[in-house]
Amino acid sequence: MLALGARLARAGGARRGLRGLAGGTPAPPGEERMVAAEVVEGGVGVLRLDRPKALNALCGPLMRQVLGQMRAWEVDPAVRAVVLAGKGKCFAAGADIKEMAALDFPEAHKGALLEAWDEMSRLKKPVVGAVHGYALGGGCELAMMCDLLVCSEEAKFGQPEILLGTIPGMGGTQRLTRAVGKALAMDMCLTGRRLGAEEALRSGLVSRVFPTGEHEEGALALAREVAKFSLPVAAMVKECVNSAHELSLAEGLRLEKRQFWSTFALDDRKEGMTAFAEKRPADFRDR
Ligand code: CAA
Repeated sequence: MLALGARLARAGGARRGLRGLAGGTPAPPGEERMVAAEVVEGGVGVLRLDRPKALNALCGPLMRQVLGQMRAWEVDPAVRAVVLAGKGKCFAAGADIKEMAALDFPEAHKGALLEAWDEMSRLKKPVVGAVHGYALGGGCELAMMCDLLVCSEEAKFGQPEILLGTIPGMGGTQRLTRAVGKALAMDMCLTGRRLGAEEALRSGLVSRVFPTGEHEEGALALAREVAKFSLPVAAMVKECVNSAHELSLAEGLRLEKRQFWSTFALDDRKEGMTAFAEKRPADFRDR
């Protein structure tokens, strides 16, 4: 049996393309590639939104490529955690306004406009969002779908949909309110006011702020830290914490207790506690 370090090195390797493909899973034939994906040391998949000429606006093809890559990494044993970031000037300036502009209600309704993004919140592997520049509208909402969210000190978060005559449609009214509270969420959604990094940290929207240009390294370090632990345990943490927004306290506590007891069916729980008692690092096997 390989030690954890060796298994991670084997799983993550040095920087490499996924299954030998330089940019991860390929875009469908004829479709422009709008994400850049790589698996780096420590078993971390790094997915960068890569449509800089439109400030990474979340058009249909970009959405399909993000979800396709996330789906592939969910079942890839080489990937234990994911960093989601943006290439170019910013994380993402929102859903693609030009793509949506001509739609009418039946088209939005029948086509379930933007609903596919919900899959992000059902992923089992931990996702660290790394925001720089703008995270506006759908960009802010996508960032909030990540489990851990960090940013650089010049980051700007906002829900400016009201300026366009619409409302957030990827969870902004719900996740933002739960993250920062009603007062600030109303302020942002009703006026389109943007939140800087320090205010985002203070209000609980992000957990860490890094100097400009260092947010990806910071997110990567965080992802590598999480990637060292037991994957099934990390998935249980995700489910329990995310459920805190959806369940009553009594239901949430019941779920937590059941999941806590479930960890006693894992070799990793036994290994973690035995390693502590034996004063050595734990060797988690995801079992
Ligand atoms: N959709 C489509 N294209 C966008 C875009 C978006 N959300 N945001 C920026 N772009 C495009 C611009 O149209 C421009 O393209 P062209 O060069 O072809 O004209 C290019 O990206 C660069 O943008 P700017 O020239 O505007 O760059 P800037 O630095 O002057 O301004 C900005 C940056 C303040 C972010 C400005 O681009 C902006 O306000 N963007 C829109 C932000 C927004 O309203 N987001 C919410 C979208 S709706 C939504 O997301 C709904 C939802 O809930 C899911």
